[in-house]
Amino acid sequence: MRQKVIYLFLLVAVLVSCSGNKVKYRIGVSQCSADVWRDKQNAELRMGAYFHDNVELKFAAAYDSDERQVQQIDSLLNDGIDLLIVAPNQVQTISPAIDRAYDKGIPVIVFERKTSSQKYTAFISADNYEMGHVMGEYIVSRLHGQGTVLEIKGLAGSSPSIERHKGFLDAIKEAPGIKVVGSLQGDWTESTAYEITKQWLDNNKEVRVDLVFGANDRTAIGARKAVANSKLNTLNSTLYCGIDGLPGKNGGIQLVRDSLLDASYIYPTHGDQIIELAVNILEGKPYKKETMLMSALVTHDNAKVLLMQGEELMRQADRLDLLHDKADNYLRELDSQRLVNWLALVMIVLLVVVLVLFYLYRLRKIALQRERVVNTLWNMKPEDIKISTSDEQKVEDDDEVVEAEYPEAAKDADVNEPAAVSHFVTHFKEVIEARLADSEVSVEDLAADMNLSRVQLYRKVKAVTGSSPVELLRTSRLNRGYQLLLTSDLSISEIAYQVGFTAPSYFTKCFKEEFGTLPGDVRQN
Ligand code: FRU
Repeated sequence: MRQKVIYLFLLVAVLVSCSGNKVKYRIGVSQCSADVWRDKQNAELRMGAYFHDNVELKFAAAYDSDERQVQQIDSLLNDGIDLLIVAPNQVQTISPAIDRAYDKGIPVIVFERKTSSQKYTAFISADNYEMGHVMGEYIVSRLHGQGTVLEIKGLAGSSPSIERHKGFLDAIKEAPGIKVVGSLQGDWTESTAYEITKQWLDNNKEVRVDLVFGANDRTAIGARKAVANSKLNTLNSTLYCGIDGLPGKNGGIQLVRDSLLDASYIYPTHGDQIIELAVNILEGKPYKKETMLMSALVTHDNAKVLLMQGEELMRQADRLDLLHDKADNYLRELDSQRLVNWLALVMIVLLVVVLVLFYLYRLRKIALQRERVVNTLWNMKPEDIKISTSDEQKVEDDDEVVEAEYPEAAKDADVNEPAAVSHFVTHFKEVIEARLADSEVSVEDLAADMNLSRVQLYRKVKAVTGSSPVELLRTSRLNRGYQLLLTSDLSISEIAYQVGFTAPSYFTKCFKEEFGTLPGDVRQN
């Protein structure tokens, strides 16, 4: 019984776990930094994952530390991710960890920043050289081919910084009137840009700067704040250009619209597209090894429209997020509803099992009681027959039969009393004892001796004892035979005839069946 219950619970556990949404793909996302640009991208990655409800994302942000990013990649691998998406902080430093992932057979998508290794499955990014080049060309035309530029680069070893710088230099090479008065080493952050610009201004108070080109918008803004703080009148009309062109509040596009930046360049985040690529790789579908994302320059002319479009997109994304949360809640409710249903079903099944077991137990108990009563009655001397209180209950069940089919018993005693049954059994036993030696005796003869028809006797005896009259007759013959074997010197054949068997061999056969031993063996003991 206990085992059955355990099996049932196991079954439910399996069914319930099957019904939930099982995670099929674990994707690790290793971000080199944490900032507004990465926040936007992470949100898009999450959004992309919504469309594949069997995808789980694990995010790690290294806050511009190579060491931390290496550790995080290793720990993502230990967590058993199925695919790694990584933006390496610097070209050289993160490559060993990425190689480890790749060598383990984990597909690797490198995005936005490059690695020095060829061990990656796919690469997706906008063209940073192109970006720097376009920005250089814009600056040349903005300054009408004549003027001074202060450049603030991104993190030294990171590929976008290297490529943007190169693109920018290549573009302004074409314009001899443009002079780069300083090329400062930043690290993508506003605070560093502020500090290095401040220091440079302190050392170059007399130098005129027509335009600051920051490798990203935050850098350009850091420089702008440093210039504002320097209160140098020569820099009142300095222009600022950056890259990233984020939509939303205080994003690059708004900064251009509000003329805090002169221009920016949209550095696409496209997190959802990266997830599509990841799922295609995981599902063995065709995918492009190198994907170049399209991008565009943001100037005062298009900033307003771009901002509106960006805001609209963000609004739709928020709504989609809300929708996802709602769907998630419904699914959770559905899951708990499913669990309740299964539990209810299990309870019903358990109840049915308990009822059936109880019913079988009752039947068995009644059968045992019946057997015990009959055995006791059959084997007792008539004067000793008394029905015990526990037997009374069982005999009560048969009282109606006694009354209906054995009027003698009903006459002699109240049929509701066990004594009626006792009387019947005793009487039948006497009838059988008297006829034991008669091999010719038939059930009709026994019935006649009991003042009953053959059918009545059969039904009555069967109801009261569970055996047929013929079976009881044979049992009595064999019991008597057993007794004679132990108490007399008669031969086995003589005993067989004396208890009503016509052939000793048949007696021996029946004896063996009844007692599991041969008459000869009983005698030897
Ligand atoms: C975000 C960021 C951007 C920049 C890019 C370069 O972390 O610093 O501002 O364009 O990374 O990889």
